[in-house]
Amino acid sequence: MANIPATPAAAAVATGHRVSPSPRSSPCLPRRKAMLPSIGAAAGPPSWSSRGAAAVARAATGSDKAAAARTIINPNNVPVLSFSEVAERLDTFQASGARNQNYMAMYSSIFGGITKDPSAMVIPIDDHMVHRGHGVFDTAAIMDGHLYELEQHLDRFLRSALMAKIPLPFDRSTIRSILIQTVSASNCTQGSLRYWLSVGPGDFQLSSSGCANPALYAVVIESPSLQVPAGCKVVTSSIPIKSPHFAVMKSVNYLPNALTKVEGEENGAFTSIWLDDEGFVAEGSNMNVGFVTADKELLMPCFDKILSGCTAKRVLTLAEQLVADGRLSGIISRNVSVQEGKSADEMMLIGSGILVKPVVQWDDQIIGSGQEGPIAQALYGLILEDMRSGPPSVRIRIPY
Ligand SMILES: Cc1ncc(COP(=O)(O)O)c(C=O)c1O
Repeated sequence: MANIPATPAAAAVATGHRVSPSPRSSPCLPRRKAMLPSIGAAAGPPSWSSRGAAAVARAATGSDKAAAARTIINPNNVPVLSFSEVAERLDTFQASGARNQNYMAMYSSIFGGITKDPSAMVIPIDDHMVHRGHGVFDTAAIMDGHLYELEQHLDRFLRSALMAKIPLPFDRSTIRSILIQTVSASNCTQGSLRYWLSVGPGDFQLSSSGCANPALYAVVIESPSLQVPAGCKVVTSSIPIKSPHFAVMKSVNYLPNALTKVEGEENGAFTSIWLDDEGFVAEGSNMNVGFVTADKELLMPCFDKILSGCTAKRVLTLAEQLVADGRLSGIISRNVSVQEGKSADEMMLIGSGILVKPVVQWDDQIIGSGQEGPIAQALYGLILEDMRSGPPSVRIRIPY
């Protein structure tokens, strides 16, 4: 067990980390000024805050949100700010509309609590997850006030932490409880929960031996209910795939994944598809891939060199209903060649962000009829139904 600071103030002082800066009162945390009277070397321009905020408010109502952020940045006159001035500027940045999503609550083991103030949702810059990528993460969907497949995602989260040699700041049931409390505090009934384990802050070395406080962070993001996914195009990725050792763990090193997604978008596609070192179909940027063969088999690449997707595994179970009613002849995981994939009756992307998304074109090859396939649509329906009314093994009710 790590040595967690006993109080939020202790954590804040130890890390130089903002606790509760907002002029809006936070229900969770006391005002910062009361705790930290003298952080910061010099005051910035005394009237910056009101001038800046007014300028930002004007800019944010216009079409160019970036103009709002620019009002904070004057590279010719960089101020030295106190903690409270930084806090004000973080509020101004937040108010500028620079963020595209609604962050409803964040937990941090560094400040030992939950904040609902998006400006306060920050982590220490000396956290090795920030400067060395020494962290792992996972997610879970929030649907109708329930967390979907939290246990399954938690299993993978803890497996990833073990592989990444990250000591747990808390045991599994405490982590689970913190995650549920964070969603509860957020009042979010539709969205997603994202969470991270990091070797924690301490220094800027490569070794984590100086990190005494492995950290848990979690954030709740509101999102509208899912749309029925339209068929999409994918392309073959030219970005090198991660080696199996790193592909099977969900570390924060997602640069290859991000570049693979960008490459797809640059080519008019939804994402790119990786092939493995032997040229077989591997996975998408942040999703698994499935096919329906001409013999009506549901076919997926094995999980030994790629991330074992919680959604894909659940789809494999739910698909048994389609075998039972004759729409599928079987379900199989094995190597899939590019040629076999491109000549499949159906192709689909599978992941917790998209559920099941039909693919209608891969590179220049039209897949099947070129329309969303019936099996992909049926599997989407089954997983959506499972999210709404599946068994307790996949649905945890949030006590709001
Ligand atoms: C590389 C990769 N593969 C597959 C998946 C799908 O996993 P899940 O269904 O658990 O979201 C993800 C999801 O984040 C991913 O990042």
